[in-house]
This record gives sequence, C-alpha cells and structure tokens, in this order.
Amino acid sequence: MRVLGIETSCDETGVAIYDGDQGLLAHEVHSQVDLHAAYGGVVPELASRDHIRRLTPMIRLVMTEARTTSQDLDGVAYTAGPGLVGALLVGAGLGRSIAWGWGIPAIGVHHMEGHLLAPLLEAPAPAFPFVALLVSGGHTQLVQVADVGRYRLLGESVDDAAGEAFDKTAKILGLPYPGGPALARLAEQGEPGRYVFPRPMTDRPGLDFSFSGLKTFALNTVRDELAARADTEQARADIARAFEDAVVETLAIKCRRAVEAAGCDRLVLAGGVSANRRLRERVDALMTERGGRAFYPRPELCTDNGAMIAFAGHQRLAAGQSEPLAFTAMPRWPLETLTPI
Ligand code: KG4
Ligand code: ZN
Repeated sequence: MRVLGIETSCDETGVAIYDGDQGLLAHEVHSQVDLHAAYGGVVPELASRDHIRRLTPMIRLVMTEARTTSQDLDGVAYTAGPGLVGALLVGAGLGRSIAWGWGIPAIGVHHMEGHLLAPLLEAPAPAFPFVALLVSGGHTQLVQVADVGRYRLLGESVDDAAGEAFDKTAKILGLPYPGGPALARLAEQGEPGRYVFPRPMTDRPGLDFSFSGLKTFALNTVRDELAARADTEQARADIARAFEDAVVETLAIKCRRAVEAAGCDRLVLAGGVSANRRLRERVDALMTERGGRAFYPRPELCTDNGAMIAFAGHQRLAAGQSEPLAFTAMPRWPLETLTPI
C-alpha cells in the first residue's frame, strides 16, 4: 500500500510518500521560518496562506521524486489536528479532495501520533510496547504506548511545553525565532556549571512537567549577569548552556521514572525538541545504563514533516480505517481518544 502524507498543522508544509513494502520513497518540507521571523512567532493567517501556495506544487514534486502517479497511490493521509485550525483545514481540504478525485480512501492523522510513530521509520525500529517522550513546541508528554492507537498518558506539562520554553528563553537571550536550535547552538560555547537553573517538579513524585518558571529564571539571570559581566557574549552562552542542561536533566529524570513505572526498557523520543543533541545523548546514556535502549528518528524527522503523517496514515489505512467525505479539523484533540487499529 502506497500513501501520500500531508502535514500543515503549523509553520511547516510537509509532503511525503510512504510505501508499505519499500519504505519512505520521498519527502519534502518547506519551513515558513523566514515568513514569520519578523513577527517573532507564527502568524496563523500567514501560515494558512503559505500552505495554500506551497502544497500543490510540493505534492507534484514529491510524486515525481517517488516516480508515483495517482494510479500508484492507495490512500491519502493528512494532519487533522491538533494545530492551527486554518492551517489544518488547508491540508485536510486538499487531502480529502484529491483522495475523492482519485477514488482512494483518506485518513485524518493525529499530529502527535505522527511524531510518536516517526521512530518506526528508522532501523532498528522500536518494538511495542514502549514509553514515549513527546517534546514539541506545543506538547510535552510521557506516553505509555501498547500499540498503534493504544496510548496512556503518564504525565504532561502543566504550563509551557519544552519547545515553547526553548523558544521563549531564546527570545530573552536575543536569539531569532525559532529559538530552540539557535539556543542549542549558543549553548555549545557555554561553560557548563557556570549557572545552575532549577529542575522543576523533580523534587516530588509524579510525571508532570512545568517549564514556565525557567523562562522567568532566565529573564532574571540575563538581567543580573549581563549587567555584571564584561564578557556579555560568553555570559549569554553560559546562560543558554545552563538552561539547556536544566531542561535536558528534568526530561531525563522524568523519563527514568516513567520507564521504571512502566517496567519497560525501550524509550522513544519524538517531536521537535528531540532533535536536540544533548537530550539525545542524555537519554542514550540513561537507557544504556539500564540495559535498555533509546530510539529517535533522524533530526529532519523529529521536527514537523510529511513522512510521519504518511507513515501513521499508512498504519491506519492498511488496517481498513478511513474518513467519510465530510472531513473535520480538530485544533484540540487528546491523544488518548484515538482508536486502536
Ligand atoms: O514538533 P515541532 O517541529 O513542531 C510542533 O509540533 O510544535 O517542534 C518545534 C519545536 C520548537 O519549539 C523548536 O524550538 C524546538 O522544537 N526545537 C528544538 C531543537 N530543534 C527544534 N529545541 C531544542 N533543540 C533543538 N535542536
Ligand atoms: Zn510537531
């Protein structure tokens, strides 16, 4: 079965073709970073308009790259939520329509299920069951995964998502949007241990997270230290390093607790923040120490992309699931409400 995947939930247009026998045949991502940079964050209306502009040519390009015609396709998968409703409707509307035009089934995919299953595109793929840490710009969740569609939420952020904390702290440090990768680059120059940020909610039991206090801590540190130190560039890097270490360590502490609670030796990392090199190294060390293993996709499949949507959609379409013609987009959509396949 060959599936076209379409991702338009936020500020990346992603298109891919996944084949059940041959794997990922082609995938392209267009990032709207330049479009939104001047505003310091995503402008929903601009995002929707750009998805409309990009999507059709990108579908043509990916089909050419995958040497695939409409007759070769067996289904279309599009992101149905969660995300920006206007942006979602672009992918859902076009995806559902071309599936109807070509006489093939369509499926609306949960964006976080896409992230969660993305490590299965890599070899070796994690076997079920596993514990997943989903860390993106909008979500920070620990999920117990029994199988496709069988998810139990173990813990989540009570305020900012980890990616959101990266982006806000980056802004405080004067870095351009999107801040996560820029902050991680700056942190490379930082002296570890020069500052120590708190590890929120690690001093009590439980698997929930809270990251909003870290940006306040960063704001105060920046205000005090940039005024006190002559080497302000080094001070910024030291603060970036301290922030990154705090987020990574906090996530690692909760991951250890989660795999212990679930009695599971496989941990999957997914979502944009899982592209963070230090986080990957830390969970690798953690799981190796425990005699288990951490799994994460290549960095380009950590951030938003069409490949994960094509793959997740393929699992559901291959199991016989599909959508009626009246499609919907769901800006909010709890992962636990998904159906097993
Ligand atoms: O999954 P994603 O591409 O979009 C959402 O679904 O939100 O995640 C984007 C988030 C942003 O907050 C971005 O700053 C963060 O992932 N991010 C990173 C890195 N790469 C992306 N955060 C830290 N280090 C990185 N290398
Ligand atoms: Zn995402």
